[in-house]
Amino acid sequence: MHLNLTAKTAVVTGASRGIGLATVRTLTAEGVRVVGAARTITPELKETGAYTVSADLSTAEGVATLMDSALTELGGIDLLVNNVGAGDDVEPIGFLDTDDTQWTRILDLNLLSAVRAARAALPSLIERRGSIINVSSINSRLPAAGPVAYSAAKAALAALGKSLAEEFGPRGGAREHRLSRSGPHFPVGGPRGIR
Ligand SMILES: NC(=O)c1ccc[n+]([C@@H]2O[C@H](COP(=O)([O-])OP(=O)(O)OC[C@H]3O[C@@H](n4cnc5c(N)ncnc54)[C@H](OP(=O)(O)O)[C@@H]3O)[C@@H](O)[C@H]2O)c1
Repeated sequence: MHLNLTAKTAVVTGASRGIGLATVRTLTAEGVRVVGAARTITPELKETGAYTVSADLSTAEGVATLMDSALTELGGIDLLVNNVGAGDDVEPIGFLDTDDTQWTRILDLNLLSAVRAARAALPSLIERRGSIINVSSINSRLPAAGPVAYSAAKAALAALGKSLAEEFGPRGGAREHRLSRSGPHFPVGGPRGIR
């Protein structure tokens, strides 16, 4: 592929495996300078040549560590890929079995990580007419098959993306691109039955 992305910069969350790793591989192959983050820096992520940051992105401190490092390393951000999601706390359980702790953890990782990363990246994205990609899920629109907190978090992520596009799109920053997988479960270590 030749996407004319040479000399662009990107931040990819949840980059150590799965969709995030595939995204980093594609971007680096296109000549994009990438900062990729996850808690574990895998050999596969290192091999891409991306600059890596180890951080727990379910916390405000973790996202701040990532975005500070990315802005220092890259000098500015053209693309933010909010890929991190699902996570250790998503279980195929019903509403009455999902307590406040699980709701909070799932919202922290699937929604607030994107909120915090977007807040930190937006000044640079506006200046460079950049983009945000939020990796969503079919569960955001068809929640029946999935864990309630995960589906609600992905629906809120969709609303966030629309709000950012409305507020910042006219200023040249934060076009919203939302990717949702559907069809067969992607065999890359994602949680059970979650799309
Ligand atoms: N797979 C599917 O079929 C599917 C379908 C629809 C939507 N999605 C969405 O696509 C995205 C990626 O899914 P995937 O299946 O590729 O995921 P995955 O294979 O489970 O990979 C998740 C990535 O996020 C990182 N991560 C998890 N918790 C983290 C935390 N607290 N802090 C920092 N990094 C963390 C993981 O690394 P560490 O564990 O080392 O931190 C890993 O790099 C998610 O938003 C998911 O909801 C996936």
